[in-house]
Amino acid sequence: MNLKSNNFLSLLVPIAAIFASLHLINPNPQFLTNFNYLNFTTLSPSSLYLGRDHHHRPHKKHPDSGSDGSICDDFPPGIPPPNTNTTSYLCVDRKGCCNFTTVQQAVNAVPDFSLKRNIIWINSGFYYEKVTVPKTKPNITFQGQSYTSTAIAWNDTAKSANGTFYSGSVQVFASNFIAKNISFMNLAPIPTPGAEGAQAVAMRISGDQAEFRGCGFFGAQDTLHDDKGRHYFKDCYIQGSIDFIFGNARSLYENCQLVSIANPVPPGQKNINGAVTAHGRVSMDENTGYVFLNSTIGGNGRIWLGRAWRPYSRVIFAFSIMSDIIAPEGWNDFNDPTRDQTIFYGEYNCSGPGANVNMRVPYVQRLNDTQAFPFLNTSFIDGDQWLET
Ligand SMILES: *[C@@H]1O[C@H](CO)[C@@H](O)[C@H](O)[C@H]1NC(C)=O
Ligand SMILES: *[C@@H]1O[C@H](CO)[C@@H](O)[C@H](O)[C@H]1NC(C)=O
Ligand SMILES: *[C@@H]1O[C@H](CO)[C@@H](O)[C@H](O)[C@H]1NC(C)=O
Ligand SMILES: *[C@@H]1O[C@H](CO)[C@@H](O)[C@H](O)[C@H]1NC(C)=O
Ligand SMILES: *[C@@H]1O[C@H](CO)[C@@H](O)[C@H](O)[C@H]1NC(C)=O
Ligand SMILES: *[C@@H]1O[C@H](CO)[C@@H](O)[C@H](O)[C@H]1NC(C)=O
Ligand SMILES: *[C@@H]1O[C@H](CO)[C@@H](O)[C@H](O)[C@H]1NC(C)=O
Ligand SMILES: *[C@@H]1O[C@H](CO)[C@@H](O)[C@H](O)[C@H]1NC(C)=O
Ligand SMILES: *[C@@H]1O[C@H](CO)[C@@H](O)[C@H](O)[C@H]1NC(C)=O
Ligand SMILES: *[C@@H]1O[C@H](CO)[C@@H](O)[C@H](O)[C@H]1NC(C)=O
Ligand SMILES: *[C@@H]1O[C@H](CO)[C@@H](O)[C@H](O)[C@H]1NC(C)=O
Repeated sequence: MNLKSNNFLSLLVPIAAIFASLHLINPNPQFLTNFNYLNFTTLSPSSLYLGRDHHHRPHKKHPDSGSDGSICDDFPPGIPPPNTNTTSYLCVDRKGCCNFTTVQQAVNAVPDFSLKRNIIWINSGFYYEKVTVPKTKPNITFQGQSYTSTAIAWNDTAKSANGTFYSGSVQVFASNFIAKNISFMNLAPIPTPGAEGAQAVAMRISGDQAEFRGCGFFGAQDTLHDDKGRHYFKDCYIQGSIDFIFGNARSLYENCQLVSIANPVPPGQKNINGAVTAHGRVSMDENTGYVFLNSTIGGNGRIWLGRAWRPYSRVIFAFSIMSDIIAPEGWNDFNDPTRDQTIFYGEYNCSGPGANVNMRVPYVQRLNDTQAFPFLNTSFIDGDQWLET
């Protein structure tokens, strides 16, 4: 999205994300230092241990592993499990302890139009690579070890990638994609005020019927390109600043943490410096929209719940908790009052200091039980047809 709005002073300061410490298995020391407290300014990709070795076959005994034995000694036994008639397993370990050292290599090894589920098991660590899952490879699962220990990251921007839409660190064009317990990050510098072409997507999900469970999405402007198709996000951590979830998908977000890293705004000041969503529904014939259920919004800044990237933008928050970073007016029509008639912005049974609907823009809908009903479970995304559980 090319967003030039005077409302966005976009003075964004980094804050520490929650990649705090803990579960990294045996990374090199510099890598660990950078990861302990992930500040986007101090974490530059060049300082990261890349963990890649394209020139050698994977080997169980690493020559540098010293007298303590192999670096693969703590590699879990039984991984990857044997294939079954319905499931194939592929294994990625950046230190070379199983078949693949990069995620893209494993994706490439999945046959086109596989009728099986292809589970790519990804060991803890930081995979510094741009990953694309093409349309020809449906039915892929990325299985990480936890979103605080397994991450895929790159640092393209709108400028470097020839457009925001291509800046994603991970881009999924295939249907039936699943990701579990893994993070997707864009490590490009946080945009300075007025910067152009600095939008930087962590994940672009453009395939139908995708689910994300226990995943992290880290970026600043335009973190999660929730582009098109039906998607389910459960127990996810999503960090951003301006329009950090945007696109025209039909998605349900359940039990998620939405964390704004927009610049803190001093009390008394009224400037807006971020928005959680920029949904892009184009016409009333489209059944797209973002629904947030039982989620929390916190962090820094003074932000809107959504702004109307396209005239029929549709976003609903239900049973969610909003901190005082939400501006009292709540929503924005992209400075186009004609959109007030066509936008669908709803709030239902939310709580917290940011959830007071008394000062909201006039076009917000305080949904009653009947109106809220279609949005309150996975039937909104036809979940019974495709969700795993
Ligand atoms: C970086 O992270 C540390 C640890 O959370 C925090 O104390 C510090 O304030 C952060 N720095 C910036 C510039 O946000
Ligand atoms: C990504 O990071 C690398 C290594 O620091 C740097 O050389 C490159 O310019 C960065 N790319 C962008 C688009 O900032
Ligand atoms: C798997 O496929 C083989 C060959 O088609 C068949 O003999 C076997 O019974 C199948 N196993 C299961 C568990 O369905
Ligand atoms: C992965 O490695 C195992 C042996 O370690 C081998 O049997 C299997 O064929 C390999 N799979 C791929 C997709 O390379
Ligand atoms: C995915 O795999 C399942 C079998 O596990 C198969 O029934 C289904 O057709 C596949 N989906 C796609 C889109 O290929
Ligand atoms: C960048 O995008 C423009 C317009 O879409 C296109 O004409 C051009 O070929 C693209 N360049 C690259 C390097 O992809
Ligand atoms: C994901 O991680 C959570 C918490 O660490 C764990 O309870 C859960 O079993 C994991 N699920 C999968 C599918 O990896
Ligand atoms: C709401 O989300 C929290 C996690 O953020 C979870 O512990 C709780 O069970 C959820 N409640 C419902 C009703 O799903
Ligand atoms: C939601 O809030 C409305 C009033 O705004 C109330 O009538 C209704 O009982 C609440 N529903 C639930 C399930 O809490
Ligand atoms: C909910 O709102 C709609 C539209 O304003 C109205 O037609 C309906 O009667 C209301 N239902 C309840 C239960 O209040
Ligand atoms: C989900 O909501 C729909 C209404 O949109 C309702 O018909 C259905 O029974 C609900 N399903 C569950 C599992 O609660």
